Amino acid sequence: MDMDLIPAPAHTGDDGRRGFLFDPSTTITADPGTEGTERWLRSTLGAAFGLPLAPGGSGRAENAGDAGDAGDNTVRLRLDPALEPEGYRLTTGTGRHVEITGGSPAGVFWGAQTLRQLLGPEAFRRAPVSPGAPRSVPAADITDHPRFPWRGMMLDVARHFLPKDDVLRYLDLLAAHKLNVFHFHLTDDQGWRIEIKRHPRLTEVGSWRPRTKHGHRASELWDETPHGGHYTQDDIREIVAYAAERHIRVVPEIDIPGHSQAAIAAYPELGNADVVDTAALSVWDTWGINANVLAPTDSTLRFFEGVLEEVLDLFPAATSPFIHIGGDECRKEQWKDSPAAQARIEEFGLANEDELQSWIIRHFDTWLTARGRRLIGWDEILEGGLPAGAAVSSWRGYRGGVAAAEAGHDVVMCPEQHVYLDHRQDGGPDEPMPIGFVRTLEDVYRFEPVPPGLSEEAARHILGTQANVWTEVMQNRARVDYQVFPRLAAFAEVAWSPLPAPAARDYADFERRMSAHYPRLDALGVDYRHPDGPLPRQKRPGVLGRPLDGPPPNV
Ligand code: ACM
Repeated sequence: MDMDLIPAPAHTGDDGRRGFLFDPSTTITADPGTEGTERWLRSTLGAAFGLPLAPGGSGRAENAGDAGDAGDNTVRLRLDPALEPEGYRLTTGTGRHVEITGGSPAGVFWGAQTLRQLLGPEAFRRAPVSPGAPRSVPAADITDHPRFPWRGMMLDVARHFLPKDDVLRYLDLLAAHKLNVFHFHLTDDQGWRIEIKRHPRLTEVGSWRPRTKHGHRASELWDETPHGGHYTQDDIREIVAYAAERHIRVVPEIDIPGHSQAAIAAYPELGNADVVDTAALSVWDTWGINANVLAPTDSTLRFFEGVLEEVLDLFPAATSPFIHIGGDECRKEQWKDSPAAQARIEEFGLANEDELQSWIIRHFDTWLTARGRRLIGWDEILEGGLPAGAAVSSWRGYRGGVAAAEAGHDVVMCPEQHVYLDHRQDGGPDEPMPIGFVRTLEDVYRFEPVPPGLSEEAARHILGTQANVWTEVMQNRARVDYQVFPRLAAFAEVAWSPLPAPAARDYADFERRMSAHYPRLDALGVDYRHPDGPLPRQKRPGVLGRPLDGPPPNV
């Protein structure tokens, strides 16, 4: 039976059984621990079909075709610890019920995502468009589990702020694709997005910039509208809880010691004030790798310990075991010139500025470990030595990840050459945001997170993979949608499904299943890139962002 599921499940069959029909008396029963999925089904399928999907009890026997038993006409959510933790089995039984059995509550939730896809595009709407129409699930017997435990997407809300509702919507979109990690890039040179009570200027000053470079860094165009925004601590709590209800872990990122001009603009004493006039800095208005990095002083360390104390409160250990401290693209010129930084190098007997960065990373690794968390950072944190328990996001290709895994560190593979979704998805002149390498839908489908040649022992350290969404050229949700979809669907299959080696992957079959997936994305209101190219309205910059005076710069 062809079910057009994305990501593809590990095993499907139908055993010649009958499908299942939802009707107004269909109920849901839930094993203890799976009530969250019960509520999720009611709020999504119930709303889409206008059905009560009431709890428990026995329904009428129409599905059974005979007298029926108690528990017929029911969606049963069950737990079976013999299954893999995120695995599930979905069956339509003898047509009298749907049963989703998960190895854990998360497995049941992923099974519920499969059920929604089996019900067709209308199941992705928020209210019925054809009230009273039959809602049937085909006969199904699906056994499924993910390839990797870390299936993520990073969203940069610093370069362009995305309002809280857009973030919540992205959590829904991740869940719909069985992705379970949301890496939340909250701070950068161009904006600080998280309220920190003890340091209010981080958002009062650091979350706004006076203007913005329009297009990529070589562009001559400016958007003179002030840009900014931040999440209050209650917004963050809501986002974290919403993610947890969807079995998504959140990895907050506070980027240090580079990418910190917004923080320095708010608190000039955080910068290298002995070599630059940090009081004159404002939140950065353009893109690139910034020379204004944190001063390696005790007071800077205490400041960021204070920030992280609030971060740990907001992102509890159960759903945020990892805290990302950035560590990428830290320019060292100011440290070379700064007497204070050189005194630190001397004081700690360090060889050079790279070791000074390592010293800062080690400090926060010890600090986080003492509080029951694990540090993760971009692969630059390998330079100058890395503490044992720290993990690495390998972005500059596979090399850093391979070196880290061989040295026994856990790794998330996110090489920019493959899974940076800000990069253009076609080489044509119509591409509205033509930056970076061309990475087509097929390129992403053929991405392999575990590079060949890695030893079995090292391969066990590849926790998984994530797609990264940097937003320099994405001013709003429509642009983010355009860059992210449909490629995130291909990425989800790479992260979840047991695909063969890249060259052997059946891209034609993926494309065929995508023809069933686009209507689901349409029903969800996703502004994806159409497979035939940008839609006419997407070619017009005015629809996707502010109007340009000329064609977008092709950098
Ligand atoms: C990065 O892309 N600078 C992590």
